[in-house]
Amino acid sequence: MIVLNINGESRSVDVPDDMPLLWVLRDVIGLTGTKFGCGIAQCGACTVHLDGAAVRSCVLPVAAVGTKAVTTIEGVGASAVGKKVQQAWLDIEVVQCGYCQSGQIMSAAALLAATPEPSDAEIDVAMSGNICRCGTYVRIREAIRQVATGQKVAPQTLPNEAPNQAAATGQVLSFVRVEGVA
Ligand code: FES
Ligand code: FES
Repeated sequence: MIVLNINGESRSVDVPDDMPLLWVLRDVIGLTGTKFGCGIAQCGACTVHLDGAAVRSCVLPVAAVGTKAVTTIEGVGASAVGKKVQQAWLDIEVVQCGYCQSGQIMSAAALLAATPEPSDAEIDVAMSGNICRCGTYVRIREAIRQVATGQKVAPQTLPNEAPNQAAATGQVLSFVRVEGVA
């Protein structure tokens, strides 16, 4: 039996030590907000926090979690920063299909908790491991800026997709090649 601290609650699970945390969250505990994308730490869809740091739960054996606090998208709004990030996502109308967005929000919240006023370069570095097939990168960056500065931008003034969509597409294609699906 493994005891986990998830979103402030103690949860006991009877699972193999090497089961990835993502499987435990989704299939054993029923917290399905965290998504499966690639399963090989390449897309960021499965991002959760471990003691506040963003980690890829698809490649994290559950036994390696130990006593560290796990926060998922279901619990991130309990922190002041997480709540602001969620509100900014709504204000900026970031989401398109939504599949990647749990992971995006978790990475953004971890960044802003550690670095309340990140530069654009710091945003790019922190968010570079989170792929969005819908190309919501411009709005993601703007939402992070909103939390950092408190300044709101009207969402209708922003493009729906990254202007450099070729770069975004390239990210997706390299991801597909890694998967061997192309
Ligand atoms: S599912 Fe974990 S990084 Fe893609
Ligand atoms: S919103 Fe569709 S993959 Fe990101």
